[in-house]
Amino acid sequence: MAEVVIVDAPETAGALVADEIVRRARQNPETVLGLATGSTPLPVYRALSARRAEVDLSRLRGFALDEYVGLDPAHPESYRSVIEREVVVPLGLDAGRIRVPDGHPARIRDAGEAYEGAIRDAGGVDLQILGIGTDGHIGFNEPGSSFASLTRVKTLTAQTRRDNARFFAVGEEVPRHCITQGLGTILRAGHLVLLAFGEAKAAAVAAAVEGPLTAWVPASAIQLHPRATVIVDEAAARDLRGATYYREAWAHKPDWQGI
Ligand code: F6R
Repeated sequence: MAEVVIVDAPETAGALVADEIVRRARQNPETVLGLATGSTPLPVYRALSARRAEVDLSRLRGFALDEYVGLDPAHPESYRSVIEREVVVPLGLDAGRIRVPDGHPARIRDAGEAYEGAIRDAGGVDLQILGIGTDGHIGFNEPGSSFASLTRVKTLTAQTRRDNARFFAVGEEVPRHCITQGLGTILRAGHLVLLAFGEAKAAAVAAAVEGPLTAWVPASAIQLHPRATVIVDEAAARDLRGATYYREAWAHKPDWQGI
C-alpha cells in the first residue's frame, strides 16, 4: 500500500516534497516531473521556488496531468497558463521543457497519443505530483475510468465542474471536456506523491488508500503502484483507519529514506 504521512499543515507537506525534488534535481538535473494543477500542489511549488538559489532547476522537464478542451490557452485558468504562472516562472524552469496536453479541438483526436509519445521520449515521469478530487479522481480520471487508461479526452462530472467553478468568473462555464493522462499513464511514473488537504478530501483519501480497488475511486489505482506516498493534513486524514500506524511508521522512519 501507499506510505501515508500525516502532517500538521500544507506547508510541511510542501517542504517534504520540495526536499525530494531538490534531492532528485541534484542527482539528475533533467529529472522529469509530473505536474498537477489546482490548489493542492501550490505549497510544493512555493517551497521549491524558495530553494531556487540552492539548486539549478532550469533543466528539469515536466508534464502536466491535464488540460481543459476548447479553453483558450491564454485564458488565465487554462492549465497551460496555470503551469506557466505557478510553476515555470516562480521555479525558473525552461518553458520549452514543460509540456501540457493540447486541448485544441482541431487537434484533440491525436493529442492523447502525441502526449503519450512525448512522455515516452522523455524516458517517463520520475516523480508524479497528484491532487485528488472530492469524487476520488486523479488527473481528470473521473469515477469509472479504466486503470489501464492512457491520455485521452474525458467528460468532467458535475461535481468536478462545481468544485472548479471557484477558479472561473461568475457566469463563465467550466469546460465540460478535458484531456487527461490516464490512470495507466500515471501508474508508469517512478514515484507517485499524492497530496490532500482539508476535510472535503477526507472521504476520498480514505477510499483511495484503504478502500477496495475500484474504478469508481480512480485514486485507488495508487494501491497498485510500488512506490506511492500520500501526504495529508489532519483534516484530510480524518477517516483513515490506519492513522495511528501511519504516524508510528513515519516517526520511526530512517532519515536517509526521505519520502
Ligand atoms: C489537476 C488535477 C486534479 C486536481 C484535483 C484537486 O491537475 O489533476 O486531479 O488535483 O481536482 O484539485 P484541488 O487541488 O484544486 O483541490
